[in-house]
Amino acid sequence: MSEALATLGTWERSDYAGTLRAEDAGRVVTVMGWVHGRRDHGGIVFIDLRDRSGIVQVVLDPERSALAHAAGSGVRLEFVIAVRGAVVPRSPETVNPDLPTGAIEVVGDELRVLNSARPSPFPVDDAIDTAEAVRLRYRYLDLRRPRMFRNLWLRHRLAARTRDYLNRHGFLEVETPMLTRSTPEGARDYLVPSRVNPGTFFALPQSPQLFKQILMVAGVDRYYQIARCFRDEDLRADRQPEFTQIDLEMSFLGRPAIFRLMEGLVAELFAEAEVAMPASPLPVLSYAEAMARFGCDRPDTRFGLELVDCAAVFAGSGFKVFADALARGGTVKAIVVPDGSQLSRKDLDDLTGFVAVYGAKGLAWIRINEDGWQSPIVKFLSEAERSRLTAAAALASGNLVMLVADKPRVVHDALAALRLRLGAKLGLIDAGRKDLVWVTDFPLFDYDEGERRHVAVHHPFTAPVEDDLGKLESEPLAVRAQAYDLVLNGTEIGGGSVRIHQATVQERVFGVLGIQPEDAQAKFGFLLEALASGAPPHGGLAFGFDRLVMLLAGEDSIREVIAFPKTQKAMDLMTEAPSTVDARQLRELGIKLDR
Ligand code: AMO
Ligand code: AMP
Repeated sequence: MSEALATLGTWERSDYAGTLRAEDAGRVVTVMGWVHGRRDHGGIVFIDLRDRSGIVQVVLDPERSALAHAAGSGVRLEFVIAVRGAVVPRSPETVNPDLPTGAIEVVGDELRVLNSARPSPFPVDDAIDTAEAVRLRYRYLDLRRPRMFRNLWLRHRLAARTRDYLNRHGFLEVETPMLTRSTPEGARDYLVPSRVNPGTFFALPQSPQLFKQILMVAGVDRYYQIARCFRDEDLRADRQPEFTQIDLEMSFLGRPAIFRLMEGLVAELFAEAEVAMPASPLPVLSYAEAMARFGCDRPDTRFGLELVDCAAVFAGSGFKVFADALARGGTVKAIVVPDGSQLSRKDLDDLTGFVAVYGAKGLAWIRINEDGWQSPIVKFLSEAERSRLTAAAALASGNLVMLVADKPRVVHDALAALRLRLGAKLGLIDAGRKDLVWVTDFPLFDYDEGERRHVAVHHPFTAPVEDDLGKLESEPLAVRAQAYDLVLNGTEIGGGSVRIHQATVQERVFGVLGIQPEDAQAKFGFLLEALASGAPPHGGLAFGFDRLVMLLAGEDSIREVIAFPKTQKAMDLMTEAPSTVDARQLRELGIKLDR
């Protein structure tokens, strides 16, 4: 390509292209941006000039400026140009009502080609259907699309509004280290070898958890940070190995005050995104209630189809599957679809396959027809069971009941997933609605069958509910945590807890987790010492900022709201990271690869 490239020289942009309106008619403007489209209409050339604000039409008429017309005739898509000319109203028949600038055009007197561009691998347009891998490889082109810029802009405004709100409420922004120590518990760490101290490693922070608690011990009282976190875990649409939290910690505040402050923040962020927010105080569900009603701890509360507990209905049942599950300490639960005619026999077969993924060994169903019950299992059910089920599930004619019997975990996983699937399939989910709910009182511990030990459900620094302290060692699985999650339409957008602020309690919790005193001292000695040095009561929370932006932007994947995200395989396709490194770099670090 041999076109003459110009420089800006003394030119200055007067306006963003997408901001010009009918009122600007008569002004001479200078606009700069990319060639979004070019049409040659027998002599007259039309160029759509795009910048981050939108598009304006430029007209190049050889009668008016032969030079500008000649320069414009050579440009191709994504060339970078600057145009100087007058804003003129379009004739009525050429007004484009779909374009904010559609009432005017810029008649070019001068045009400078500031740069050429290779042919783009995909059109820089919102209406593209390009593989995500290609978009990520050429992210700079992808981000030129209006939708992506809108997402970046919203993200920026939400971050700015967050800082504004927290600054007004006495929070201090404090940076915490990126190079820190690897601690047990939690997800897998990203490790960074130390050259200066061969054989030792830093870990990138999974969150600033311990630093923010120590800032409370230090008397900072209210901390926040828009913090980058790193977790080497398996990725999904709403997970990245590197993600951002709005991280917060507060001293001398209990849960109600923490909720109030956080709801105030969320309300401002919704307002910034122009999304209607449910009124404060937000509903609070205990973990136990969330599990009972929805089968999961992050329920999508926008629709019904709640679980019905049928354990009492089928006690001593003649249907062996149910009786056996109950006898083994399992349970039987149901979902009732009000209008069962919406689901065909084939749908039921498909749904049986669907729940199998969650470990369910079957999906029993019963159609409540006018003329009796239709079901593969009806022959096993006694009259008493049928009337108990009718009462428990408030059955009416036309209903379809779907049942799973198994260990509680399987029943809950299967029915929670089935509920979401049915909600979508039957069109019960109002996409415009935003439901927010706090889920509280999680169990403090879970039992890891693989590792054969107790693990923390949230993290090991979460305070037990005070009434449950006595059961810490004797009945750890019955101890509730002062932990809470904020759930938006079934996605966990934030989580936190009141923390343990007394060293003795922290040592007991480490004990339950199987961390021996010497080990606790070696790995968490600094925390125990800090707690023993006058730690105030404190608590906090972290919002998943990417998830929040995703939901407020109406996107389905957090990759759409992260400028340079990683793929499901934790790779950056643009820079091709991770990459191999020089043998010399490895030698300096004292690292030998064994493959
Ligand atoms: P937690 O681990 O629950 O808590 O994380 C807080 C929030 O961060 C978001 N999140 C993620 N977002 C994208 N990709 C990921 N891989 C990812 N993992 C988590 C979620 C989650 O609700 N230090 C504690 C908070 C505290 O106790 O104050 C913590 O990190 O939206
Ligand atoms: P069977 O008697 O095994 O053919 O099962 C009869 C019906 O019960 C079928 O519709 C199965 O899908 C269903 N079923 C089997 N196991 C379970 C289970 N664990 N929970 C719920 N339904 C089941």
